[in-house]
Amino acid sequence: TMLKRLLFCASTLLVSQFSLADECSTTIESNDAMQYNKSELVIPATCEDFTVTLKHTGNLPKQAMGHNWVMTKEADAQPVATAGISAGMENNYVKPDDERVIAATDIIGGGESTSTTFSVKGLNKSDAYLFFCSFPGHIGIMKGTVTFDS
Ligand code: CU
Repeated sequence: TMLKRLLFCASTLLVSQFSLADECSTTIESNDAMQYNKSELVIPATCEDFTVTLKHTGNLPKQAMGHNWVMTKEADAQPVATAGISAGMENNYVKPDDERVIAATDIIGGGESTSTTFSVKGLNKSDAYLFFCSFPGHIGIMKGTVTFDS
C-alpha cells in the first residue's frame, strides 16, 4: 500500500541519518574494576568532529573510583597524567589550559555519564595518539590507542 511504502521510506531515511551521525561518535564504558570496555578507538578519516560518551557502569563515588576520558599524543600521555595529579579533582585531574590535551571529559562516578566533542580536522592522522583516564594511578590499566581509518 501507499502507507507502507511511505513508512518504509521514512524509516530508511531515519536509519541512514542515524548511521551518519553514529560514524563520528562512540560510547566507552568504565567500571568499578578500573577498566574501560575498549582498548582501541578508530576514528573515520571523514569525521571533522568526534564525540566520545563515557559511561561509568559501577557504583563507587568519583572520589574513590572516578574516571574520565583524555586524549593526547602518545608521548604526552604520561606527562599529562602526572600534571593532572597536581591539578587535583577540582580540575578533573587535568591541568587547566594544558595544550597537550586534545580532548578531556569531567571525572564521573558510578551511574554517571559525560561526553566530549573535539575537532579531529587539524590532527596529523599518522601520529600516534592515546586515550586514558587521568585519575591518579589509573593510566597504567585504563588506556587505549586512537587511530584514524582512511
Ligand atoms: Cu579511572
